[in-house]
Amino acid sequence: MKLFLDTADIDEIRTGLRWGVIDGVTTNPTLFARVGGSYDDVVRQICKLTSGPVSAEVIADDVEGMLREGRHFAALAPNVVVKIPMCENGLEAISRLADEGIRTNCTLIFTANQGLLAAKAGAALLSPFIGRLDDINEDGLTVIRELADIVNLHELESEIITASVRHPRHVTDAALAGAHIATVPFKVLRQMIHHPLTDRGIEAFKADWAKAAAEAAAKG
Ligand code: E4P
Repeated sequence: MKLFLDTADIDEIRTGLRWGVIDGVTTNPTLFARVGGSYDDVVRQICKLTSGPVSAEVIADDVEGMLREGRHFAALAPNVVVKIPMCENGLEAISRLADEGIRTNCTLIFTANQGLLAAKAGAALLSPFIGRLDDINEDGLTVIRELADIVNLHELESEIITASVRHPRHVTDAALAGAHIATVPFKVLRQMIHHPLTDRGIEAFKADWAKAAAEAAAKG
């Protein structure tokens, strides 16, 4: 199971990489808007920090525009993956970029059928958004389970990247459901590290050690 950071924030990416647990990064226009500047520069910077896949999302909604943006992103660094939304033009762009050897991440997937289509078009990564499904009282994990079964049963080459992760339980469930990757906001990554019993245990060990050291010092 690989973990990607779902952010365009360079400091968050640096920190996650230092922890040794991050295999790649996903960005989108919303995440980029939070940091601002030049998208190209942000993508280039992230690609220098990690050799893992870094998703950069197209804005165009026509095929030629998607191809133009996709080729442009792919030229920024060898580890760029072009993120393209699930739609009719998106499928054509994914297919044509695959023919050119450019890896794509099909985003805004909400059903197993959409994932199957993206895989058939040649997307390297399939991004079902589970949090947004949960938000509207549907079960995001069902899509992960169904798509994982389809990918395994038919030996498709695409990897499933669980996106729109809202909390640590999503990561556990996605891993158990067979997703290859989860892309997580930095806040969720941090929540995964901590547990009240762990944090309390660290404090108790420190306090007991200090107590024992003080007693030993007092005995001379
Ligand atoms: C990642 O590839 C997606 O763009 C992201 O996970 C969407 O998350 P959101 O539903 O919290 O906006």
